[in-house]
Amino acid sequence: MPLDRCVFLIGYRGTGKTTVARLLAERFGCQAVDADHLLQQRDGRTVAEIFAQEGEPRFRDLEQQVVADLAVVDPQVVSLGGGAVLREPNRLALKGHHVAWLQASPTTIAERLASDEVSADQRPSLTGGGLFAEIEQVLAARQPIYQECATMVVDTENRSPAEVADDILRQL
Ligand code: S3P
Repeated sequence: MPLDRCVFLIGYRGTGKTTVARLLAERFGCQAVDADHLLQQRDGRTVAEIFAQEGEPRFRDLEQQVVADLAVVDPQVVSLGGGAVLREPNRLALKGHHVAWLQASPTTIAERLASDEVSADQRPSLTGGGLFAEIEQVLAARQPIYQECATMVVDTENRSPAEVADDILRQL
């Protein structure tokens, strides 16, 4: 099935965006791009290093440039960092594309993050607080923004990445 526009995967850390993007891209025979990987490649530092050396606003500037570039290339599947939707220009860049919001509960997200090897490099603390409190707080603040951007909502609880990819394909 050819893609008519990009599929952007949004949602909190640990909802499986990168893995699902790869699976979807295989089905479409197109590229999967992870916005954070591209950002790190361009900048030469990890997300955690950018946060530590220049702060979150600088990371968001770099992220905004990456999102702008990704929204104007040929149809592909893009996994976005969990906070990419915070900036209005990014939300505008998503318009006209498919946008799938991958959902999971705070408990599931915490479990997945605890067992995920990329956490340290790519996922610096967003609040300075404990992990579970941070997930609850940041997720609650972001829910309406994810909702506003999403053209489809995808439950990832108790589902494999392949099942999540199937759900997205059904909803496209
Ligand atoms: C962030 C999520 C991360 C990364 C950065 C900030 C966030 O991406 O962009 O650490 O604000 O939620 P993932 O959602 O891919 O972990």
